[in-house]
Amino acid sequence: MNASPVVADKKLEQLFGLTDRVAVITGGAGLLGTKHAEAIAFAGGIPVLLDLPEAQPGKKAEMLCRNFRCKAIGIEVDISDENSVTRARDQIFNQYSTLDILINNAANNPKMEATPGKQWSRLENFSLEIWDADLRVGLTGAFLCSRVFGSEMAKRGRGVILNVASDLALIGPDQRLYRKPGVPDLEQPVKPVTYSVVKSGLVGLTRYLATYWAHAGVRVNCISPGGVYNGQPDEFVSKLQALIPMGRMAHVDEYQGALLFLCSDASSYMTGSNLVVDGGRTCW
Ligand SMILES: NC(=O)c1ccc[n+]([C@@H]2O[C@H](COP(=O)([O-])OP(=O)(O)OC[C@H]3O[C@@H](n4cnc5c(N)ncnc54)[C@H](O)[C@@H]3O)[C@@H](O)[C@H]2O)c1
Repeated sequence: MNASPVVADKKLEQLFGLTDRVAVITGGAGLLGTKHAEAIAFAGGIPVLLDLPEAQPGKKAEMLCRNFRCKAIGIEVDISDENSVTRARDQIFNQYSTLDILINNAANNPKMEATPGKQWSRLENFSLEIWDADLRVGLTGAFLCSRVFGSEMAKRGRGVILNVASDLALIGPDQRLYRKPGVPDLEQPVKPVTYSVVKSGLVGLTRYLATYWAHAGVRVNCISPGGVYNGQPDEFVSKLQALIPMGRMAHVDEYQGALLFLCSDASSYMTGSNLVVDGGRTCW
C-alpha cells in the first residue's frame, strides 16, 4: 500500500509486458491471427503461428521476425488432427522449453453463397458434411489445443488461454445483412448456422476451462470481436454500420489492445470472462 511512485510505475509499466513468453496462435497466418502475433511480438513475446500449409505460417513468421526483430516461428498444423497438434507441442518444447499463452483463433469462417441458385448455407440445405467440418476446426480444434497445450501450462502452474469468439456468440445473425435484391426468400444467402454454434460453444468452453484450471494457475478468457472491415461490398458495409452504435466496422488492428490486456498480467484477476469489443453492436 505504501509503495513509492517509482515502484508503482515500474509495476504498471510491466503489466502489459510479455517478455520471452511463448504464445501459440492458431490460425496465426490469417487476417486477425497476424495482428494478434504482431501484438505479442510488440510486447516482447515469442509468437508461434500454427496454420494450414496453404496459409504459409513459416513465411508469415519470417516477416514478423524481420519487422519486429523478434523470435517467431510458424508451424504447419491442422488443429483438427490430434497427432498434428501433439507434434507441434513437441516442436515448441524442443525449441523453447516452455509455453505460456494459447490463442484459439482458427476458424473455418464459412462464407455465404457467391453463386446464384446454390443455397447450401440455408438451414434446410445445410449438409452434415459442412456442419462437421466447421465444428471440427472451430470447436474440436479449440478443445484439442486447449487439452494439449493447456495441460502443459497446468503442469507448470501458469498460463493463459484466450478463445476468439464473435459478437455472434451473443446475438443471432441479422440475416437481412446478407439479402440480395431480386432473389426469392427461400434462395437468399444466409450466415451459416455453424458460425453461431461454434462461437457460442467457445464461450461455454471458456467457462468450463476457467473453472477447471483456476487452481492450476491457468486463466481462460474469451474475446468477442465485431466485424472487421476487409473490403466487403459497400451495400453490406452500410447495412452493418447502421446496426453499430459507433457507426463503423472495426479496423483490423483494433483488437490488439484487448488481446494484450487478456494475454498479459494486466488481466491477472480475470478468468472465465467474455470481453465484447464490437463498437456497441450487442448493446443495441
Ligand atoms: N474478421 C472478422 O470480421 C471477425 C469478426 C469476429 C470474429 N472473428 C474471428 O476471428 C478469428 C480470425 O478470423 P480471421 O478474420 O482472421 O479469419 P481468417 O480466415 O483470415 O483466418 C483463419 C485462419 O484459420 C486457419 N485455419 C483454418 N482451419 C485450420 C485448421 N484446421 N488448422 C489450423 N489452422 C486453420 C486458416 O488457414 C486461416 O489462416 C476467427 O475465429 C473468426 O471467426 C473474425
